[in-house]
Amino acid sequence: MEQSEPGMSGEFRGLVAVVTGAAQGIGRAIAEELHTHGARLVLMDCNAAKVAATAAAMRQPRRPAVDFVVVELADPTAIEALAEEIALLVPKVDVLVNNAGIELDLPFGQISAAAFDHLMAVNLRAPLLVAQALAGLFPATGGAIVNVSSIHATHAFANSIPYACSKAGMVALTRNMALELAPRRIRVNGVSPGYIDTPLWDVWLRSVPDPEELAAQIEAQHPLGRRGLPADVAACVAFLASPKAAWVTGTNLVVDGGLTIRAHP
Ligand code: NAI
Repeated sequence: MEQSEPGMSGEFRGLVAVVTGAAQGIGRAIAEELHTHGARLVLMDCNAAKVAATAAAMRQPRRPAVDFVVVELADPTAIEALAEEIALLVPKVDVLVNNAGIELDLPFGQISAAAFDHLMAVNLRAPLLVAQALAGLFPATGGAIVNVSSIHATHAFANSIPYACSKAGMVALTRNMALELAPRRIRVNGVSPGYIDTPLWDVWLRSVPDPEELAAQIEAQHPLGRRGLPADVAACVAFLASPKAAWVTGTNLVVDGGLTIRAHP
């Protein structure tokens, strides 16, 4: 088996983790965190060039292997083929992180059926279908699934109806999968990040007239005084996926610097 670097905690040593949407942003940070602590990885993404570059950047001597699969998660047929593809790369799957997600910034009245369905397919249907496709690769001793939801699941923001519905659905998906997979010792938990500094955030900031003012405003709304980093989310996902959370299933951990505990921003 691959050697871990001295000093690594190795909580995931000997374990295989599959992370969706791992080419960049939060997914990449989650993959890096699990890898640092000993996991062998399969990165999944629809962006072939980027996921290949991310996997190449993560590969290091004396660290567990990093493989990747290119998949369009809106396509159920492509998801069906995943188990076979992944079984060619790794002998089992111990951890699945359903992280891939997209946003749609449209006001009520302008949301088409096609746009709604596409967002739901990627953000909500795919996590279920990927889990179903890979469940047979989990060992009999069990494993862990972590779903990346959002504070939009519980709080309303402008122009966010489809995204919020998908993320609220994900919290229900987490709870219900946790119940059905408990007999197989597969724990299912979720995280709800707040504002996290990723390429998604950059795209959004670039779309407003004064990005700096908006960024400052948002940071001031956080009791902990800053926006989140991908590593903040990755640490929580790693905890939920790790044996330290052996008695935790069906829960959803809010990771938002206290943003949503305030009565008024
Ligand atoms: P991102 O846009 O930086 O990265 C998303 C990754 O998923 C990309 O590599 C992209 O290629 C991949 N992806 C997107 N659609 C896909 C598809 N159909 N098939 C396969 N791969 C696909 O996003 P970010 O910010 O890292 O977000 C990751 C997750 O965290 C998402 O589920 C998002 O909704 C959630 N989230 C993000 C927050 C933020 O402030 N950035 C806050 C709360 C939740």
